[in-house]
Amino acid sequence: MQVNLRIRRFNPEKDSKAYWGEFNLNDVDPTDTVLDVLNRVKWEIDGTLSLRRSCAHGVCGSDALRINGSNALACKTLVKRLGSGDSVKIQVEPILGLPVIKDLIVDMEPFMAHYREVLPYFINDSEPPENGRERLQSQEDRMRFDDTTKCILCACCTSSCPSFWANGQYVGPAAIVQAHRFIFDSRDEGAEERLAVVGDAFGVWRCRTNFNCTSACPRDIEVTEAIAQVKKVLTTGEI
Ligand code: SF4
Ligand code: F3S
Ligand code: FES
Repeated sequence: MQVNLRIRRFNPEKDSKAYWGEFNLNDVDPTDTVLDVLNRVKWEIDGTLSLRRSCAHGVCGSDALRINGSNALACKTLVKRLGSGDSVKIQVEPILGLPVIKDLIVDMEPFMAHYREVLPYFINDSEPPENGRERLQSQEDRMRFDDTTKCILCACCTSSCPSFWANGQYVGPAAIVQAHRFIFDSRDEGAEERLAVVGDAFGVWRCRTNFNCTSACPRDIEVTEAIAQVKKVLTTGEI
């Protein structure tokens, strides 16, 4: 099939503003991914096209893009999902709400700064069990945060959230997912510190239950549900 590809381009060294680049590719297999077609443009037509990617298998989280108006990982988006027939139109833009560095590459630092704010690591200063044993946990307790352990920090969620677009100080759904992963871990002792972060003026109450984040998550994490659970802890005081 043929793919008509529109790519948002911007080179800060020569462009005063962003513009659309157009490319037509023939002999695209419907099971090719959007990353495959972007790589073809870069390798066969225009080597200056800039994009982030690494694993090509939905693991590293580096190729989150806005594809036909919705956030997704380019390497997990098959061309056949975007249209059928002899010709498919695909529009690719950088994710929104973060500064564009070049073409499809955004500055992830504001996103990572919010990630660091929620203390995304295990906190427990009490003595570990004797004989070098692990801190045990029931299967039931583990399941309370199982979903939020799957996050790959791709930013598809946060950069699809209208509240984050409106105010980048909002900590955002990805950071709340990370906070959830530790707040609901029965072995962790840092919940109070994390709840102080996600409970402040730029925390969970900025979430208006829009659900874009849940729709965009390539790991199928129930992001809005995780945010609701954190809101409930803040309201009731009970984990
Ligand atoms: Fe990506 Fe999902 Fe994690 Fe958000 S919650 S950063 S969409 S993996
Ligand atoms: Fe934003 Fe998700 Fe809430 S899109 S408003 S964080 S439900
Ligand atoms: Fe690693 Fe797509 S390139 S998730």
